[in-house]
Amino acid sequence: MNPLFERSVYVSRRDRLAEAVGHGIAVFLGNHEAPMNYPDNTYNFRQDSDFLYFFGLSVADIAAVIDFDARKSMIFGNDFGIDDVIWMGDQPTVASLAEKVGVSETHPFAMLADFIQQARQQGRKVHFTPPYRGDNQILLANLTGINVNTIRDEVSLELIKGIVTLRSAKEQCEIDEMDKACEIGVRMHTAVMRRCHEGESERELAGLAEGIALSFGNGISFPVILSQHGETLHNHAHDGILKAGNMLLMDAGAEGLMNYCSDYTRTMPVNGKFTTKQQEIYEIVLKANLDAIDAARPGLYNKELHRLSCEVIAQGLKDLGLMKGDVKEAVELGAHALFMVHGLGHQIGLDVHDMEGLGQIHVGYDETVRPSKIFGWASLRMARELKPGFVVSIEPGIYFIPHLIDIWKKERKFESFINYDVVDKYRDFGGIRIEDDLLITETGHRVLGPHLPKTVGELAEIIG
Ligand code: GLY
Ligand code: MN
Ligand code: MN
Repeated sequence: MNPLFERSVYVSRRDRLAEAVGHGIAVFLGNHEAPMNYPDNTYNFRQDSDFLYFFGLSVADIAAVIDFDARKSMIFGNDFGIDDVIWMGDQPTVASLAEKVGVSETHPFAMLADFIQQARQQGRKVHFTPPYRGDNQILLANLTGINVNTIRDEVSLELIKGIVTLRSAKEQCEIDEMDKACEIGVRMHTAVMRRCHEGESERELAGLAEGIALSFGNGISFPVILSQHGETLHNHAHDGILKAGNMLLMDAGAEGLMNYCSDYTRTMPVNGKFTTKQQEIYEIVLKANLDAIDAARPGLYNKELHRLSCEVIAQGLKDLGLMKGDVKEAVELGAHALFMVHGLGHQIGLDVHDMEGLGQIHVGYDETVRPSKIFGWASLRMARELKPGFVVSIEPGIYFIPHLIDIWKKERKFESFINYDVVDKYRDFGGIRIEDDLLITETGHRVLGPHLPKTVGELAEIIG
C-alpha cells in the first residue's frame, strides 16, 4: 500500500472542491495497468494525479465519484479474488482502503455505469476531466454515452478550474513531499557530477541517475535528458561518450514515494573546467536563473519573471556582441528567442508539468493573461500571477540551434537586434540550461530541496 496523508487531508480537499463546483457529480477514473508489449507485461503503474490528490490510493482499476449535491464520495472497485491473490498476494479490501481516505461508501466497479446512467437520467451534470489514456477515454465514453471521438470536447470547465485552484496552492504536507523529491533529484545530479569526466558514457550516467530515483523514490518524474547536445531541448538519446571540452546537460528529477515531483537541470563542463567562451555564456544563464529567483514573490505575474530572465539573457548576449539594440524592445518583440526558445518554467507538483493533462491554458493562464503568439513567448507554460504555495520551475537557457540560426539568418529576422556574423562563431556551442524548483511563500520564495552546485566554482569542485 502506498503512503497516504492523514484522512482529513483528502476529506478537506473534496469538500473544498464541492464548494467550488457546486452541483452535479464528478467522475474520477483511476488508471489501469498499461501494457508495454503484451498484456501481462506492464509499465510501472502510475495512478492518475487528480485521483491521487482527492483519493490518495495508488491502486489500479478503481474509480471514484464525488456527489456535490449529496456531499458524499464513493469509490468503485473490485476486491481481489483467489486468482489475483495467487499471483499478487493478499490485498486489502476496497472498503478498507477507502476508509483510509475518508470514504465510507464503496461499490463493485460494475456499479459505476449504473450510477452515472441514473445521474444522467435525472438530468444531473456529470463532470469529468480530459481523459489522456486511450483505455479511459473509451471507458468514459461507454459510461457517459458520449461519442468517444468527441468526449474531450465535453469536459467540465468548472471541474478543471476547481481542481487547478486547489492543486496550484500546495499545502504544507505537499511541500514536505516536494522537498523529499528534490532531495532525490539532488542526489541524482550530484552523483552524475562526480562522474562528469572524459571517457564516461552518457548511457551509464543516465542509468545511474535513474537508478537513484528508483532507489529512493518512485522513479524518475520524466525520462532523463542527458546529453552533450544541450541545444536539443528534450534530447533523450544517450549514445555519446563524454569528451573533454564538451558540456554535459542533464535535466532530470524524481518522484518521491507519494508521487510528488522534482525537476532540475544542470549544465556542467566535462572534467570540471569551462572554456572562456562557455563560461561567458554560462554566467549569463546563471544570472538569469538567480535574478528570476530573487525577484519571485506572490503578486507578480510569472510572465514578468520570464521577461526579466529574457532581458538578462539579451543584455548578456549584447555585452558579448551577439545581440544589439534596445534590450527591452528586443525581448518584447521576441528577438531573444533565437537563443532562449522556451518559457521560464511551469508548475510542479504531482505531475512534473503540474496538471498539464487538464489543459495548459487553464493551468498557466487566466482571464487576466492570455498566451502570446510570438515565437518564444508562445512557449511560456506558466504566465499567471504567483500565489503563496505555488511551486514553479525556474529554467532559463541559451541554445545555439544551427537549423534555427540558418532560418532566421536567411529571413534576415530581427537583423537590427542580432549580429549574425558573431552568432555564426557559436554554431557548434551547444546549449546551457539551469533549472531549480521554487516555492512561492507568503512573503517571497524558497528554493526547494538541498543546494545543488551551480556556480562555476561549485561545479569545478564537485566534478574534481
Ligand atoms: N521536463 C523538462 C522540463 O520542463 O524541464
Ligand atoms: Mn527539467
Ligand atoms: Mn522543468
